[in-house]
Amino acid sequence: MTSPFPHNFLWGGAMAANQAEGAYLEGGKGLTTVDMIPHGKNRLPVKLGQEKRFTLREDEYYPSHQAIDFYHRYKEDIALMAEMGFTVFRTSIAWSRLYPNGDEPMPNEEGIAFYRAVFEECKKYNIEPLVTLCHFDVPMHLVTEYGSWRNRKMVDFFTRYARTCFEAFDGLVKYWLTFNEINIMLHSPFSGAGLVFEEGDNPEQVKYQAAHHELVASALATKIAHKINPHNQVGCMLAGGNFYPYSCKPEDVWMALEKDRENLFFIDVQARGAYPAYAARVFREKGIAIVKEVGDDEILKNTVDFVSFSYYASRCASAEMNAQNTNAANIVKSLRNPHIQVSEWGWGIDPLGLRITMNMMYDRYQKPLFLVENGLGAHDEINAQGEIEDDYRISYLREHIRAMGEAIEDGIPVLGYTTWGCIDLVAASTGEMSKRYGFVYVDRDDAGNGTLDRKRKKSFWWYKKVIASNGADLD
Ligand code: BG6
Repeated sequence: MTSPFPHNFLWGGAMAANQAEGAYLEGGKGLTTVDMIPHGKNRLPVKLGQEKRFTLREDEYYPSHQAIDFYHRYKEDIALMAEMGFTVFRTSIAWSRLYPNGDEPMPNEEGIAFYRAVFEECKKYNIEPLVTLCHFDVPMHLVTEYGSWRNRKMVDFFTRYARTCFEAFDGLVKYWLTFNEINIMLHSPFSGAGLVFEEGDNPEQVKYQAAHHELVASALATKIAHKINPHNQVGCMLAGGNFYPYSCKPEDVWMALEKDRENLFFIDVQARGAYPAYAARVFREKGIAIVKEVGDDEILKNTVDFVSFSYYASRCASAEMNAQNTNAANIVKSLRNPHIQVSEWGWGIDPLGLRITMNMMYDRYQKPLFLVENGLGAHDEINAQGEIEDDYRISYLREHIRAMGEAIEDGIPVLGYTTWGCIDLVAASTGEMSKRYGFVYVDRDDAGNGTLDRKRKKSFWWYKKVIASNGADLD
């Protein structure tokens, strides 16, 4: 069996602090945005920044508060990853474990000690940590006191936090991502960037000004990471998936291009080091005037080393798309593509779309790619024998790994692959536990009941074989 994957290809899985750790107030941690996002009918308005939620309510359930208790069970979970043969584990640092309020001059040592223990545990098994600095969590104090990323001061708070991470975990962590799915702030502003809208706001102005601050912060963090250790590799992170034109009508093709640009704008800056040419007209037409400081354009030239992305599905656009005929798979609104199947949650399943997306990204950026999220959210049942036979998940992953192999054969350098939610965790969009992605089942339901016990699924053994054969054996 031959494998298209290079011998040093990194295989593993991904999680995020807010969806896995729980222990939301332990170890000195402060409240973050995601801690305020309830499960149930109020979830969406809060996530979108339409409903202000600055205090917790007694009548609501907040899935991030306990999540899957990775905070106390990380040793067991990392051992399971090691058993599958992981060579990389992507997770995030909860900003508010290190800086509970976000604006303190000094970090919380207990938070640092926790992550050091996690990364040392990875190293014990030769698992390379891949660490996201900000995965959908902003310390709440920064939201209530400063307006989150609306405020230029966030650049300083974030870079202080980033520097602390690069220094504290130097030698343990080499691969870093600045902001998870940075483009999601346009589509889900509170969960993406801690933004809440006020009466009279032009939301587009607020979002793109916040985006500018994040882009400056990301570039500065990249510069600091390289200065602290030239071996550090820093990536940006896109919620990926190309837009297909719904038809070959030129207007549909144009709309698909515009929709792609909306998401790629961020990566265009982070990977190429300057605002793209098309931005000026887009800003003008949306009534946006970005306030820049002297020196910002110079800072943005600190580009990333690699481009990471999530891929769940391709997207589809037409000149006639509107709120009624679109759905929001992975939060980005898309028309339903009649040529592809969808998951139980209506997310498209399109492995060739992954190859298309990867080719487009490499053509555009000429930087190594890293696929840091991919997977199928599905309901899992425990059968009479006590097993979970998740063949649907195996089949989804097999086809996507095959497509990624094709992209590598197309000539694209790819650093690695981390499937999303390698151990079941809380879904970001819905807050459900029952939307499962893992190779390992976690006994917990949507209301927070369950033992939290871990159990290997059929896909666990399958993925172990995939890794052992370096992607040659996908059967
Ligand atoms: C990405 C996020 O948007 O998709 C993850 O980076 C998220 O945090 C994942 O969990 C899958 O989405 P969901 O809503 O099914 O959890």
